Amino acid sequence: MAGDGRTSGGMTMPRGTENGRRLEITSDKDVVSARQVGRELAAGFGFSPGDQTVIAAAISEIARNILMYARRGELSFELVSEGPRRGMIIVARDDGPGIPDIARALMDGFSTSGGLGLGLPGARRLMDEFDIDSGIGSGTTITMLKLKRPVR
Ligand SMILES: Nc1ncnc2c1ncn2[C@@H]1O[C@H](COP(=O)(O)OP(=O)(O)OP(=O)(O)O)[C@@H](O)[C@H]1O
Ligand SMILES: [Mg+2]
Repeated sequence: MAGDGRTSGGMTMPRGTENGRRLEITSDKDVVSARQVGRELAAGFGFSPGDQTVIAAAISEIARNILMYARRGELSFELVSEGPRRGMIIVARDDGPGIPDIARALMDGFSTSGGLGLGLPGARRLMDEFDIDSGIGSGTTITMLKLKRPVR
């Protein structure tokens, strides 16, 4: 993950196109929509209200980053399952300037914009898996997975 700046983006769940949704992010309105769509998909897939909020919060942070650092990009959502495991994968892509030092960007308090520097590390903590693929001039792709807690 963090370190060499190049990663596979592989989550530990099979990827598919079923139940997918894609959203362009070019404005604050799109950030609000992305949050809502993420929450609705999560609700429809049976995530708890608490986890719906957690997913929406993570989406909000990475979508805000797209707007702020890359100006535009897209989010896609996938509902995935493997045996009894169910989850939601969110991929954020942009063709912005890229992140030169991913390990640093993931540290609490690191910001190049005078922000709090909590968006990326916060989103990572909220999700079960989190992967950043970014390089200078090649944009940024963030892939994150939230697993549904099994009902017992
Ligand atoms: N999509 C992106 N493209 C380029 N750089 C990014 C992107 N997302 C994050 N970064 C870089 O990573 C840093 C950390 O991001 P993070 O979201 O944690 O903090 P922040 O946006 O600066 O502040 P905030 O706490 O308000 O989110 C940013 O300051 C920026 O330098
Ligand atoms: Mg941020």
